[in-house]
Amino acid sequence: MTIGIIGAMDEEIALLLQAMGQVEEHEQAGNRYYRGTLHHHSVVVCKSGVGKVNAAITTQVLIDRFSVERILFTGVAGAVNPMLNIGDIVISSACIQHDMDVTALGFKLGEIPYQSNSIFRADQQLIELAKRVCEEIVPQRHMVGIVLSGDQFIASREKVKALYETFNGACTEMEGSAVAQACSLNNVPFVIIRSMSDKADGSAHVNFAEFTVEASERSYQMIDHMLQQL
Ligand code: ADE
Repeated sequence: MTIGIIGAMDEEIALLLQAMGQVEEHEQAGNRYYRGTLHHHSVVVCKSGVGKVNAAITTQVLIDRFSVERILFTGVAGAVNPMLNIGDIVISSACIQHDMDVTALGFKLGEIPYQSNSIFRADQQLIELAKRVCEEIVPQRHMVGIVLSGDQFIASREKVKALYETFNGACTEMEGSAVAQACSLNNVPFVIIRSMSDKADGSAHVNFAEFTVEASERSYQMIDHMLQQL
């Protein structure tokens, strides 16, 4: 079984590549894909780029060209649930596209018109595995919850409150739900794992860059530990 690993940050990809040693490099649609092994698993590692379109293309390439049978996505996100603090981890129970808005035609916010499903559930086994690993790495500082995605960096108190109230989201980011939709349409199990870099309230610029290094290290550890136990 080949496992696709999508990282959002250069730093975490670098750590994964270092651990993989020798890799085969492939290029498609503007992205680099690195095929190799990690803890005896065949893996393909890549960076999606920012936003839902990039994430969907990357996911479909992983599935079509590299025949991956599981996808793990790691990166940072803005906390939406007020219980979460910076540095905490959210494991996706499901993903919703918060910026899908066809309310003018009577659809619910987040509902993708004329499609049977707009809430993309993560794989239960991968969720359980991620929970076990979180208990080792960040005990008591993780939550399984809804990951919201949109092509927007959220930086307002009002908006983050609305996201919580409308969708009961745990966190918000810009790719997870696109990965989730592509995986669901292809019947590929996935999980999204996000470290909270900010509270999506406009104070993000203060701590974002500094936090990225720490979050990359933690994301790498998550993937490393998950692969050891998979
Ligand atoms: N990624 C990290 N923080 C985010 C935020 N506040 N909004 C969207 N994506 C993010």
